[in-house]
Amino acid sequence: MLFKDLYIGNAEAPMDIRVTDGKFTDIAPNLTPLPGEGTVTDLAGKMALPPFVESHVHLDTCLTAGRPRWNLSGTLFEGIQCWEEYKPFLTKQEVKERVNRALRLQASNGIQYVRTHVDINDPKLTALEAILELREEVRDFIDVQIVAFPQYGILSYPKGAELLERALELGADAAGAIPHFEFTREYSVESLHICFDLAQKYNKLIDIHCDEIDDEASRGLETVATLAYETGMGDKVTASHTTAMHSYNNAYVIRLMRILKMSGINFVANPCVNVHLGGRADTYPKRRSMTRVKELTAEGINVSFGSDDLFDPWNPLGNANMRDQVFMGLYTGHMLGYEEIVNSYRFVTENAARTLHLGDAYGIAAGRDANFVVMDAKNWYDALNYNAPVLRSYRAGKLIASAAPAEKQVYF
Ligand code: FE2
Repeated sequence: MLFKDLYIGNAEAPMDIRVTDGKFTDIAPNLTPLPGEGTVTDLAGKMALPPFVESHVHLDTCLTAGRPRWNLSGTLFEGIQCWEEYKPFLTKQEVKERVNRALRLQASNGIQYVRTHVDINDPKLTALEAILELREEVRDFIDVQIVAFPQYGILSYPKGAELLERALELGADAAGAIPHFEFTREYSVESLHICFDLAQKYNKLIDIHCDEIDDEASRGLETVATLAYETGMGDKVTASHTTAMHSYNNAYVIRLMRILKMSGINFVANPCVNVHLGGRADTYPKRRSMTRVKELTAEGINVSFGSDDLFDPWNPLGNANMRDQVFMGLYTGHMLGYEEIVNSYRFVTENAARTLHLGDAYGIAAGRDANFVVMDAKNWYDALNYNAPVLRSYRAGKLIASAAPAEKQVYF
């Protein structure tokens, strides 16, 4: 099948794309249909991108805002309390039904790859088992990567390390940790050693909830980077949030940046939720609490954006549209230079694919799986500015989601 007249990424000239047996086989201008080629789709100069990648979300908690009660203070810690009160309602069926709805919402916005953290501080591992099953059921439409996430800590929750190991045995793709939430600094460091040891034992990726607090003394990141460097795990490791880095003094950051670069780790910022949950202990001025995206990017370190939460105790809004994260991230990070705007789709496409360690499975190039989306815009600048919908989302060349172009009328 042939797709005609698409601007791929920031390309200045349109291309045609040939797909054969679910793979990209030819990407060039003015391709002629082959005899018996089948469908030829004219995409009229729209923008094509590889599918959006959600690099940090908590699907187990999604779509639960207000149940059993609303998080009225808007703090991270009241959010954790609300979630604790919701946990008795969890059943495998309830989780699967809810997460299924969230995955469809994501698919409607062109997302085909999702890294979800799943709370494993639950002796029954109910949510984990549900999402492990769902991961297999939706595999043909969306790739779900699961991080075993110890919400209360590895050492500060009964049998936390055993639950983490059990989750990895059951099939979680990555090991998590939450060093800033452990009872003590000593537990914080030790929990990271346990996380790295287990990830290596089971050959898994790592994604740490790292320093998600406005405490300039929260220094889990230096330990994560050093362990990634010394173990050689490098870019298999991701530091999520790192909001304390917003508050670090510059002299410390200059020293820290060296090991961050040496380590090769990835960063995930969650712009909407970081701004929403951050600065809550401040009077005025109130901190933005987003990690140093602009400076990390300038140093060549991989940074992607995630949503973190979709309509749950930590975020009462959320529509699973990655554009919103880019929009907020650019404003919050002082990144509205022209080049920064036109390249910003990378935070939720190729950078995020690096975070998920997708390798050559991802991207619009000959020989790869024919997964791509078509925006209702000619370029990313317009797509971002006018919140253009994803007109079509293709998976192995097959249409899996579509939207009608938005139409507005003005009567004067
Ligand atoms: Fe998170």
